[in-house]
Amino acid sequence: MKELCFATNNRNKIAEVSQMLEGKYKLLSLEDIGCHEELAEDQDTLEGNSRQKAHYVWENYSVNCFADDTGLEVDALCGEPGVYSARYAGPQRSDTDNINKLLQSLQTHDNRRARFRTSITLYLDNQEYQFEGIVNGTIATEYKGNKGFGYDPVFIPEGHDRTFAEMSSEEKNAISHRGQAMQRLIQFLQAQ
Ligand code: IMP
Repeated sequence: MKELCFATNNRNKIAEVSQMLEGKYKLLSLEDIGCHEELAEDQDTLEGNSRQKAHYVWENYSVNCFADDTGLEVDALCGEPGVYSARYAGPQRSDTDNINKLLQSLQTHDNRRARFRTSITLYLDNQEYQFEGIVNGTIATEYKGNKGFGYDPVFIPEGHDRTFAEMSSEEKNAISHRGQAMQRLIQFLQAQ
């Protein structure tokens, strides 16, 4: 079976994608390939960051690999926090601080439209491929729900009246940015 590294140590993400690959590839985490260093992601786009991480693994460990990067893009804030979503309110990378800053920044705006966008870069047999997933929605005026992570308690996907934090993981994954990008990656891999 062909080996493929997912440039993450998040076991939940590995298990989820492994299941989707239906045994066609053996999925390896960073730990599995002996990569213990923190991967740099200091580019100014999501595409740049996912490419930087996947390319690093390919260059240094000579293993087929893919990496993802996600951001929340808010229209009234000209696309912010975008690629800086994790450290929007500072280097402490606190979800609560980030959400509070977001709600405060939007206080004077009527337009609350936003989207989550995920970029995936795959290095397969020395070729680079990119995949994208987007979910449009709006930013709620207050926290709702306690599931999920990050900005989930304030993001209401289009066509729904609940935040991601009020949905089960199955319900969220079926419509989410990352779910869509992963589906595109998996369809591509299944066709190889
Ligand atoms: P990452 O690229 O997956 O590390 O995501 C960067 C940042 O975006 C995270 O720290 C979260 O704050 C936010 N984020 C990514 N995916 C989600 C999501 O599915 N829900 C809510 N926030 C997310």
